[in-house]
Amino acid sequence: MADSPCIAVVGKGGVGKTTLAAFLIRHLLENKLTPILAVDADPSAALAGVLGLDVYETIGGIREDTRSVARGIPAGIPKQQYLELKVQEAVTEAAGFDLLTMGRPEGPGCYCFVNNLLRDNLDRLTGSYRVTILDCEAGMEHISRRTSRDVDTMLLVADPTVKALQTLEKVLVLADKLKNKIERFLLVVNRIPAGSEERVHDAIEKHLDMNRFEAFCMIPQDDVIFDAELAGQNLLELETEMQAYLTFKQFITSLAKPLIP
Ligand SMILES: Nc1ncnc2c1ncn2[C@@H]1O[C@H](COP(=O)(O)OP(=O)(O)OP(=O)(O)O)[C@@H](O)[C@H]1O
Ligand SMILES: [Mg+2]
Repeated sequence: MADSPCIAVVGKGGVGKTTLAAFLIRHLLENKLTPILAVDADPSAALAGVLGLDVYETIGGIREDTRSVARGIPAGIPKQQYLELKVQEAVTEAAGFDLLTMGRPEGPGCYCFVNNLLRDNLDRLTGSYRVTILDCEAGMEHISRRTSRDVDTMLLVADPTVKALQTLEKVLVLADKLKNKIERFLLVVNRIPAGSEERVHDAIEKHLDMNRFEAFCMIPQDDVIFDAELAGQNLLELETEMQAYLTFKQFITSLAKPLIP
């Protein structure tokens, strides 16, 4: 395990990756396992909202800047140094953690420039943090295209649907193809309606090889999260007890090997 471990949250769209990334950050903050680098690697950039932050700069915004500022870069500054400075500007500082937001590339073009910037700068950035949390794009683009740094722990998230479970099957296949092996796989199945745990468990076993996971947990559907989203409250400061968070916390603290050494 790296000194500064990287935990990636992956899964199909809408299953709760961002919510669980926020839960993880909340848990780490409560236990003073800081400083944390949170990376919102999803172009839709939703992590800031659930963490209660406003983001003004994203890596996606850098593309236009480098083109428009004197055909790229202000005179006298090497390009690499300029880009590092710009990436630093995409880091939003908060109490106990920083948030790096990838965002969408502005203007025409593909994500290559943005992805490469993220890849080239992530290793350098993560070293100074106790832990890095990557809230990934649906599927596993960043990891499969090697745009992110090596991942130590992968938190695979599904909701109780066959599609979400099948996505995780594919994620495991992709993860096996990576040159740098991921050490730990944790499975979280989120948004389980009360009373359907047993049926969901059967479905999970049908689709996934449970031996692949070091540990597994089911998180209930939680109306408190719904209310918080409706009221625009962030998940870090919410004082109302969230059953989903309590269940997640219990899962993390019961791991035989702590998540953060
Ligand atoms: N346990 C839960 N109980 C109730 N609502 C939940 C729960 N987990 C997540 N949600 C809600 O489900 C929606 C999707 O969650 P979230 O944004 O975390 O998913 P995501 O996987 O990050 O989605 P995307 O792929 O679009 O980034 C959100 O409105 C969130 O509040
Ligand atoms: Mg998300």
